[in-house]
Amino acid sequence: VPAEASRNAGEEQRLGAWDDAFRAGLADLLHWRRDVRRFRTAPLDRALVTELLGVAALAPSVGNAQPWRFVLVDNPGRRAEIAAVFERENAEAAQGYEGERRALYCAMKLAGLREAPVHLAVFCDEETGRGAGLGRRTMPETLRYSVVCAIHTLWLAARARGVALGWVSILDPAAATAVLDVPASWSLVGYLCLGWPEEVADCPELERAGWEKRGSPDSFLLQR
Ligand SMILES: Cc1cc2nc3c(=O)[nH]c(=O)nc-3n(C[C@H](O)[C@H](O)[C@H](O)COP(=O)(O)O)c2cc1C
Repeated sequence: VPAEASRNAGEEQRLGAWDDAFRAGLADLLHWRRDVRRFRTAPLDRALVTELLGVAALAPSVGNAQPWRFVLVDNPGRRAEIAAVFERENAEAAQGYEGERRALYCAMKLAGLREAPVHLAVFCDEETGRGAGLGRRTMPETLRYSVVCAIHTLWLAARARGVALGWVSILDPAAATAVLDVPASWSLVGYLCLGWPEEVADCPELERAGWEKRGSPDSFLLQR
């Protein structure tokens, strides 16, 4: 079969929508994706991590710039330094609340840095030549938005394989970036923990803890 003919057949098949069973599975995945901070310490196969990064790179990006840069943080010393940056910032953040809110904040677990088998720092290459600037002349931040798209794609791909992801943003980005010794043009977008979850849930941990609920879709909508 000529390559072109088979490509056309594939296109033909994907011209329509996916079927109900797929849609139900996708809805399930979206409902059961969670930000996870409680990991089992069992390792994640490196081949699986590489596969997930390949899927993440299918994300959309402004001008097709693909500005995502991934750093697998394996070094125990660097990991401990990142955990220390988190502890410092988390303690500082707690001071920003008072009374019951502070007590609730302190009671929550907001990172799984000590237990997660995989630490993945995700950066944006602010000076990438890819895409030749298309689409970001007036909104340069779209380069970072593109990296967020990749993280969300990774999140779903991981969850679909039973792998949990936790996003840690309670960090001083300059301090965390210094620990990781990356090119100066890279800015930190997310520091992720990946691993096998201790539990699964269809409701955010912050909602279960009484911190913040999900709003209804109409509370996010304006009409003009
Ligand atoms: C940009 C971003 C940063 C986040 N940073 C943290 C964090 O530092 N610590 C934490 O516990 N959760 C963090 N989260 C997870 C949110 O708390 C979580 O997504 C939200 O409570 C909804 O829960 P769900 O993801 O399980 O649906 C972050 C999520 C995003 C998208």
